Amino acid sequence: MSGILDISGVSKKFGGIQAVDGASFSLGKPGIYGLIGPNGAGKTTMFDIICGRQVPDAGEVRFHAQRIDGVKPYKLAREGLARTFQECRVLPEETCLNNVLFAAQDKRLGSEVLQAFTRSATARRSAELEARRLLKLIDIERYADDPASALSYGQRRLLEIVSCLMSKPRILLLDEPASGINPTLLNTLHDFLVEIYEETKIVFLIVEHNMEFIMSLATEIVVMHQGRVLAQGAPERIQSDKNVIDAYLG
Ligand SMILES: Nc1ncnc2c1ncn2[C@@H]1O[C@H](COP(=O)(O)OP(=O)(O)OP(=O)(O)O)[C@@H](O)[C@H]1O
Ligand SMILES: [Mg+2]
Repeated sequence: MSGILDISGVSKKFGGIQAVDGASFSLGKPGIYGLIGPNGAGKTTMFDIICGRQVPDAGEVRFHAQRIDGVKPYKLAREGLARTFQECRVLPEETCLNNVLFAAQDKRLGSEVLQAFTRSATARRSAELEARRLLKLIDIERYADDPASALSYGQRRLLEIVSCLMSKPRILLLDEPASGINPTLLNTLHDFLVEIYEETKIVFLIVEHNMEFIMSLATEIVVMHQGRVLAQGAPERIQSDKNVIDAYLG
């Protein structure tokens, strides 16, 4: 039976490096999923493959049963597949509000909706209201009209996530959202993700090295090691899995 996202036998080599090596896992239902594993395990490469930035050498990626490996990122974005990057990407000169609003337009580029969106003052107003609501949830609404460069690094990371949400994705991939974020902001991010999940019931797939953060947030964890999937299951089970402890957690 097909799930929301099905990865089967995916491999990717860069020169002599086998970054992903016959990896398979399935995200069967909406939820917050963690993707963990040591440095170089192939997590970011897996994200790149799911989002169409890299074409796998072998294997299949299916999104709601449709093959998507090799499909261009902008097309996948229109299908509701969004991601953030390991390095933060916001437009520093633009206001925080504009960063979020531009993201809302991006997905609709080239579509009729864009024309409706840019033409209609009502649509613009409702996008702005939504953007401000989300900014408030991550506690940076007061900076809405300031350039994004005024934010701390951690706040910029949260801004990037909010921007992704404006395109109303069906699955959102976050690559190390907790890295470089102070403890207070980490709590804000945690509660924000739980709240957005409860509201939208989309799939979150989150690469993270902060074990406390991901184990308390995710309902299910996928572990990668040397390009393969070592284990998949509930956080409690993963934390006591001998293979996982040997390869990563120990
Ligand atoms: N574009 C590339 N060209 C060459 N090698 C690459 C490329 N991308 C990744 N690799 C290599 O593939 C392997 C897997 O890298 P990847 O970035 O997917 O790991 P990761 O699990 O995300 O690690 P980290 O936790 O450090 O972010 C590494 O050995 C990396 O050096
Ligand atoms: Mg990575």
